[in-house]
Parts: sequence; structure tokens; C-alpha cells
Amino acid sequence: MTPGATPDGERPVVVVTRRLPGTVEDALAARFEARFNTLDDPFEPAVLEDAMREADALLCTVTDRLTARLLDVAKRRVRVVANFGVGVNNIDLAAARAAGVTVTNTPDVLTDDTADLAMALLLAVARRVGEGERLVRADAWPGWTPTQLLGTRVTGKVLGIVGYGRIGRAVARRAHFGFGMRILHHSRRPHAAAPGDPPAEFRARLEDLLPECDALTLHCPATSETRHLIDERALARLRPTAFLVNTARGDVVDEAALVAALRDGRIAGAGLDVYEREPRLAAGLRELANVVLLPHLGSATTETRTAMGLRALANLEAFFDGREPPDRVA
Ligand code: 8YV
Repeated sequence: MTPGATPDGERPVVVVTRRLPGTVEDALAARFEARFNTLDDPFEPAVLEDAMREADALLCTVTDRLTARLLDVAKRRVRVVANFGVGVNNIDLAAARAAGVTVTNTPDVLTDDTADLAMALLLAVARRVGEGERLVRADAWPGWTPTQLLGTRVTGKVLGIVGYGRIGRAVARRAHFGFGMRILHHSRRPHAAAPGDPPAEFRARLEDLLPECDALTLHCPATSETRHLIDERALARLRPTAFLVNTARGDVVDEAALVAALRDGRIAGAGLDVYEREPRLAAGLRELANVVLLPHLGSATTETRTAMGLRALANLEAFFDGREPPDRVA
């Protein structure tokens, strides 16, 4: 059998569920029988199921939910799923393993841009960037005054980081070396410091970390363990002056509890890039002034989205060439 071919000698069919940067689509089409979703709307489950019946591989995104049932159908033909993104909470990994479907993701290439966006959200919410921008755009700015839109200083404050993997550390470097912040972190287990890491103090218990933070930023994966990790109780342990930043996954925060805490002034503000039921927002969130709301932009630069696509392609190529995919997660 030719390396990379299907058992009947054809080029593998790869269903690509969303539009990707042009260079990525060209590279995919050059190597595979690539089928693109030219409409670029999220596939309904039935459409995804039909597409998977005719695919040897799937290149999917956060807007595709690969449930156990779907993977069971898919396994009749689909052999590999290349997720465009590092987070794989949209895929039932245990079901993929049971179905014998290989799953890959795209780590590393999005670390810096996601960390940049977390810092952007922290600065934006603490310095009231959204409020100021809305004021100017609404032509409602009366002119400069000494007490207008006073925010909170970020430089030199204490940043708590939940999840101290690649992205959490990249935020720590920016916050410490760029803004002189003291870094505290919490994860399931302590991590040995790597070269280039700033000094950082580990807190084994999240509840101990929370009251110490001027700001808390989330960088853990969405799992059954981290679902609603930041709930009413956790929010109550933050200081009323603290800011919350979430560029991880919406499920990590109980959004209804967050809205209540923000509304009652139990925390000072939040910068959010992700939501529990994207693209829908929890009731009341949009009306709050002390939040900055972004539409899941963590990795959204041309450079990173291209690199993510090429990384997904590299995983598919390795798989169909009979090599171990570099970013296999199941
Ligand atoms: C992606 C992300 O935009 O990688 C992730 O986990 O959240 C984002 O970088 C999204 O997952 C695309 O599928």
C-alpha cells in the first residue's frame, strides 16, 4: 500500500469542518482529498454525522461536539480526528479510545498569542478600557477630568494563575517581567520551574490562593474536575477588589454565580474570552459595565491560526504515513 493512501489506494478524504486560512486549505488540498465547509457555519450534529460517514479523517474545531455516539458511527470509516486547537473538551476522548479513533491537537503554536490576550483582558478590565471606548464611540465624552473612569493599577500587584502549563507560564512571564507582578499559582500538582520562568509560589489548595490575589487568570483544561471550579464559594474567597480573567474554557466558571458576584460588587470585574454556552452569554452579563467581553479570540492571529492549521495537517500526514502523530492525545 502506498504510504498515506487508504486501503483502496485513494487519497484519504479529510472533512474540514470550518474555513481555515488560505495557506492551510491549499496545503490540505495538495495532500488530501479535502472537503471544505464553504458555508463556514457550525455543522449541525446530523450534518457532522453524515460528513463523518464519508471521511477517513476529520479536521474539527471547538464548535464541533464529538460525542460517544458520533464517534461510534464515525469509527466505521474515520480513523483520525485532528482538532484545530489545544483544548479537546469538545471531544469525548474515552469514547475515541474505545472506538480506536486517534485524536490529535495543536499545542505550543498558540501559547504566546493566548497569553497576550489574557494580559490584554487583565489590562482592559482593570484600566476600564471597554468603558472608555464605549464612552468615546457614543460621542458621550465630556472631555478630560481628573476623576474620570479611574481604574486600578496592574503593575506590581499579585496575580494568581490556575493551571500552570504552557499558557499559564507564558502569562506568568509577561506579568512578572513586564508588569512586576508577584506570581502565585495553583494546579493539580506542583511543576518544576523551567528556564525563563519567573519566581512563582505554588498553592496546593485553590482556596488558599484566592484571597491573596489582586487578579486571577484561568489556564487549566476543561475537565469534569475543573467544571465550575470558580463557583459561588470560590468567588466569595476573592477580594472585592479582585479581577477575574478567563481565556481557558467557559465551563471552568459558574457563569450565573459570576454575574451575581459582579452585580453585587463582590469582585471588581472580569475579562472573559470564553463562555459556558458559546455563543450565548449568561443572563445579565452583557449589561454589566465592569466586564470586558471578547468572542473567543485567544489564538486569533493570522500567524497562530495558520500555524494551528499546519500543525493539524502535520498530524494527519504523520498518521496516514504510518508515523506516530506528534500531538496525539488519544
Ligand atoms: C481555538 C482554543 O480558537 O486552542 C484552544 O483550545 O480555545 C482556541 O485557540 C479553538 O479551540 C479552535 O477550535
